[in-house]
Amino acid sequence: MSGRERISQLRGAIATTRGKHGAARLLAISDSRSLVRSLFLASMAETPLGLALVRPVTLDELCARTQCTRPDRLQAWLDVGVEAGELRMRSDRWQAHGRRARAIAEGDAIITAQYRSMLEYQSGPYAHLGALLRCQPGEGRLDLDDYAATIAEVSLAAAPFIEPFLHEVVNLRHPVNALDVGCGTGVYTRALLDADPEIAVVGIDLPTDVLDETRSRFRSDGYGTRVTLAVGDVRAWEPEAGTQFDLIILCNNVYYLPPDERADAFGRLRRMLSHDGELVVISLTRPGSIASAHLHLLLSCQEGEAALPARGEIERTLAEAGFDVVASEMLVPTEPFVGVRARSG
Ligand SMILES: C[S@@+](CC[C@H](N)C(=O)[O-])C[C@H]1O[C@@H](n2cnc3c(N)ncnc32)[C@H](O)[C@@H]1O
Repeated sequence: MSGRERISQLRGAIATTRGKHGAARLLAISDSRSLVRSLFLASMAETPLGLALVRPVTLDELCARTQCTRPDRLQAWLDVGVEAGELRMRSDRWQAHGRRARAIAEGDAIITAQYRSMLEYQSGPYAHLGALLRCQPGEGRLDLDDYAATIAEVSLAAAPFIEPFLHEVVNLRHPVNALDVGCGTGVYTRALLDADPEIAVVGIDLPTDVLDETRSRFRSDGYGTRVTLAVGDVRAWEPEAGTQFDLIILCNNVYYLPPDERADAFGRLRRMLSHDGELVVISLTRPGSIASAHLHLLLSCQEGEAALPARGEIERTLAEAGFDVVASEMLVPTEPFVGVRARSG
């Protein structure tokens, strides 16, 4: 680089950072670099390209695997990955290189779902905020219908905190049977089954395709008749006549119920509990973190009246439905993420 180029670059850099918003411009540059990395990783997670990059592949091989008819665009996408440090190119072969890219290429379900969700439903409420602010009451997005599988997978990130809490409840209460409301991937159905070899669990949820996948995983993992999965809305579903549950869990889904329907739903569940049975409600609450404010915005932009419960609201609603709250614990460091245990009062 010539001395003249260096001086002219330096002048440009000084002009960029000088003035009232100089520091803001630098922060914006850094943010846009992070955004490009996130978008790149999200597109890796959203397409078959992610898994294909687990080992070194040529452009032709990638084109063949992904039915790509525009190698020029694929080449441009690969260049972004290399510049971001997420891909490595050697001898005309590309491979996932950064930690996050490797996790996606190796099929890590949680990281893949987190990045995929950025493109699928996390950015929509921000991109379309103007229109969403002018909607009529009750109108909004249909993310739960459109992205059911990703939504269920994203919540797996909380499993390391929720599983020990559920194990403790099972060890204390020794339930013979349990109901997992809104079971999604079945991660907590499995936590209950694994906590006690005697327990049988019924899981209910809304989307048939998510339930089909969860059912086939339980079948291939050999859980047999200990687990039964059924399509059901907690506001209307009835167990088989005569069935009462010793334990009912609602993990990461109470916020989909409109606030004024929660006491009724808890009351219905209370009637399904055996004498001295226990209801466990686990949820992020608000306020208290960026994640909680972000999830509340996503929820408030949905059709209907989804909303993250305020701190203490779950406990109050349970009391309104006739429960005695026996414990309320914060489960996740830095997040207002609560686990509430309640018994039929
Ligand atoms: C964020 S996912 C959580 C899944 C699982 N409980 C977990 O924590 O991994 C929320 C789930 O609740 C389900 N759900 C939402 N409203 C429901 C309702 N009214 N009745 C039954 N399930 C519902 C959704 O379909 C979705 O699978």
